[in-house]
Amino acid sequence: MSIDEKLARLRKKQDQAKLGGGPEKIAAQHAKNKLTARERLELLLDPGSFEEFDMFVAHRSSDFGLDKQRVPGDGVVTGCGLIDNRIVFVFSQDFTVFGGSLSEAHAEKICKVMKAAMKMGAPIIGLNDSGGARIQEGVVSLGGYADIFLLNTLASGVVPQISAILGPCAGGAVYSPAITDFVFMVRKSSYMFVTGPNVVKTVTHEDVTMEELGGADTHATKSGVAHFACDSEAEAIIGIRKLMPYIPSNNIDDPPIKETADPPDRCEEKLNYLIPDNPNKPYDMTEVIRLIVDEGEYLEIHQDYAPNITVGFARLGGRSVGIVANQPAHLAGVLDIDSSIKGARFIRFCDAFNIPIVTFEDVPGFLPGVAQEHGGIIKHGAKLLYAYCEATVPKITVITRKAYGGAYDVMNSKHVRGDMNYAWPTAEIAVMGPKGAVEIIFKKEIELSPDPQKMLDEKIVEYTEKFANPYIAAERGYIDDVIEPVQTRPRLIRALAMLATKRDNNPPKKHGNIPL
Ligand code: HXC
Repeated sequence: MSIDEKLARLRKKQDQAKLGGGPEKIAAQHAKNKLTARERLELLLDPGSFEEFDMFVAHRSSDFGLDKQRVPGDGVVTGCGLIDNRIVFVFSQDFTVFGGSLSEAHAEKICKVMKAAMKMGAPIIGLNDSGGARIQEGVVSLGGYADIFLLNTLASGVVPQISAILGPCAGGAVYSPAITDFVFMVRKSSYMFVTGPNVVKTVTHEDVTMEELGGADTHATKSGVAHFACDSEAEAIIGIRKLMPYIPSNNIDDPPIKETADPPDRCEEKLNYLIPDNPNKPYDMTEVIRLIVDEGEYLEIHQDYAPNITVGFARLGGRSVGIVANQPAHLAGVLDIDSSIKGARFIRFCDAFNIPIVTFEDVPGFLPGVAQEHGGIIKHGAKLLYAYCEATVPKITVITRKAYGGAYDVMNSKHVRGDMNYAWPTAEIAVMGPKGAVEIIFKKEIELSPDPQKMLDEKIVEYTEKFANPYIAAERGYIDDVIEPVQTRPRLIRALAMLATKRDNNPPKKHGNIPL
């Protein structure tokens, strides 16, 4: 065979691989408003940066006529590429080949890039679009999934793992994205469930659509499985590109620094007047955050899940920070089961990847109620406490208003190794709110008083003067400084610069036992 013939053969094989399941299947994919595996990678990676691995890998099965259907690549495109010039490893499942189903060979390709990502210290991004285990291969396919789950677990906390669900993701297959750090879904075209609507109908007699059971909005609002619900595949993929610059490539690197034109000493006058005089009046904590961080850019994670806490990434003086903040605009910013889990998982991500945590606190306490108690608010609230306690990254708190009861301790107090703890003059640091406190400690006096209402009001004023402020905590050193709200940005930036060399350790152990 001449060299030209050899080259022609190679090119033919490459073209064949690039066509996946062929023009008809590609047209069917487009008709469903879905991109192909390769089109998705083009959107995700810097132009021309994709280096493909294993283009010619084929399955080795011959049952059920599979020997006559060998498509090079076997339903998944894998390799590495760049996002903003930083290396990432990728796999993109190709629904046009056996519905993107996972064979032994398909799984081996995914495992190969995952291992490479860990070895090279680079993030791994999975674009999922798959009918699940390749039914014809049986247990070999299940073994392939288990190999991936194991690598997901080993990679957790070593390199960031990001998943986009861009089609079906059902059965045990859901557990791979579930272990990853961030999950993106697309409304009306992606689904995640352990058992689909038909099985649900048979077992529990419930009627439910795919979208209701496991669509993007369901997982972004109710289950918390998805961190982002997007309107299109392009939005999801661009979303991954926007997330990446906030996070480092691995657990040894620091996050990238982004130069900013936003002055570090910018004082935002509006902040001094943002907290309402009435302590029961809500305000939007994300407005506070946006006024303080670089260029007002705050990438909220899990925006629609447990909105009584807000978590996300921002930058201060160019440095990436994880923000955790109570949100008084929802349920008064109370801590409940879902918000505790949401906060804890985000804190652990930041701690694993060297991202300082800035906490804005305005919390009336934990949510009372039978549903919360029976649902395990004790163990779920403990997750948030545990996550703050074990985190060794720089940790800064700003108490804007309420810091009541156990929630004061939990929200990165000095006692759980908060490095710098600031309070605004509007802060109220106490065991509980003035009315509740007075009704307990002056119960008898108020009952015996000729004018109970007058006495209650007087005692509330007295208690508020004495306790509902930051100064008792500041006298103890539990608060490092009481600052004017306008100064929050410069103070946080200076604190982060001071903490940049922070080193702290936990006692050596195999791993802790976070209450699950
Ligand atoms: C082999 C599969 C397949 C699978 C789809 N295909 N899923 N081939 N194994 N799991 C093939 C179809 O035969 C079809 O081939 C092509 O992919 C496209 O599928 P369609 O059904 O035409 O597409 P659509 O109507 O969009 O429906 C997509 C679907 C459906 C909802 C995913 O295909 C489906 O229900 N598939 C089976 C899903 C499933 O039960 N998987 C196993 C789950 S259990 P042709 O040649 O006709 O185009 C599991 C366990 C994992 O995954 C456990 C890990 C621990």
